[in-house]
Amino acid sequence: MSLDPACFRGNGSVVVFLISTHRGMADFIEQRLEEIRSRNLYRQLKLVGGEQDATVVLDGREVVNLSSNNYLGLANHPALKEAAREALDRYGCGSGASRLISGNMTAHEELEQRLARFKGTEAALVFNSGYQANVGIIATLVEKDDVVLSDQLNHASIIDGCRLSRAAVSVYRHCDMDHLESLLKAAPARARKLIATESVFSMDGDIAPLAELVELAERHGAMVMVDEAHATGVRGHDGAGVVAELGLRDRVLVQMGTLGKALGAFGAYVAGSARLKELLINRARSFIFTTSLPPVVLAMAGAAVDLVKREPERRCALRHNTDKLRNGLGRLGYTVGGSTQIIPVMVGEEQPCMELAARLLESGFYVQGIRPPTVPPGTSRLRATIMATHTNEQLDHALEAFARAGENLPVQTDADPPRTSATTRTQVG
Ligand SMILES: Cc1ncc(COP(=O)(O)O)c(C=O)c1O
Repeated sequence: MSLDPACFRGNGSVVVFLISTHRGMADFIEQRLEEIRSRNLYRQLKLVGGEQDATVVLDGREVVNLSSNNYLGLANHPALKEAAREALDRYGCGSGASRLISGNMTAHEELEQRLARFKGTEAALVFNSGYQANVGIIATLVEKDDVVLSDQLNHASIIDGCRLSRAAVSVYRHCDMDHLESLLKAAPARARKLIATESVFSMDGDIAPLAELVELAERHGAMVMVDEAHATGVRGHDGAGVVAELGLRDRVLVQMGTLGKALGAFGAYVAGSARLKELLINRARSFIFTTSLPPVVLAMAGAAVDLVKREPERRCALRHNTDKLRNGLGRLGYTVGGSTQIIPVMVGEEQPCMELAARLLESGFYVQGIRPPTVPPGTSRLRATIMATHTNEQLDHALEAFARAGENLPVQTDADPPRTSATTRTQVG
């Protein structure tokens, strides 16, 4: 903020007030940054040059990328690039307005029809991002006097959706169906109840017990919303996600997923009934009050959906690579959680976690350290994510680097008492 005293000539007290407010803000920012640094929670952006791939040029150096949600390696696939080029020629660049004004283009409708076929639902609706989808869905389905039953490890976007809805939030212990049932029983009889969970958990890489959860919901008259951000493209025989894999399509009210992770594009979808879509179009503020996605992005996502269905071998390669790294890390003595392509390598405290990440990076492997507030205190971990396009050689070298990097670091091992986030009771985010 620049202040021109000439604007306030003759009004000295206003100038003094504005200058002191300005200084107060600067002090506040400094204090906050210092506090973040002193708690080892300071974050910095890293720069990727060139394309997203199994290796990336990170801050000017080529490294193996074990930190991307581009699980199937589609983010630089020629079919997505071609679809984007065609859409650019046909539709131009921006959409110019929100969907309810003049920004609802053929490309939006086409992608939604494709997504509904892919998910096996009556309808689908595209949101600009997963964050916006979750916030919009929850605030549409529940309001004051209702209750959201939310898994303890749900993503920040679900937590923020709960906050925005003003419904009461009952947080159940991670994947603990007994706890969920006790909270369902405790909810006021007249309240509308929404159970919100991820299918594949983003930081722990485990899978929610959806069959049991759906049964509980039906017994207690609750709606179910499943976030398939990390399952879309990856789980199920055609990549439609865990809900489809378990045959629960008709028993889950809302399936949400993202287009920017395994699908290599950007944006998100909600799949469900035509009536649900209609309601979201009319009530979801994060859908209504934002410029719609540009057609190039939608075309990329459409091409990715086709590839995901057509090329199951990508999912096979992902499974093979996941097993290789997961089993190898276990043999080295690391405590690894989950059962999917997201492999949390548990460390515990923030400092050794970031030191382990730094040593791996030095050896040419980018594995992001995850600290509070993204995960609960004491559960800092490396989040290794696998891609179908990693080679055997890259993964062998990654295991060698992990073996060296863990030396003389206080890293949680299988011999230690478990301190995974699943045993921590607080909601994060
Ligand atoms: C479980 C989960 N839900 C939602 C989101 C948000 O998706 P997006 O990145 O499209 O905003 C993410 C990822 O960032 C996620 O991990």
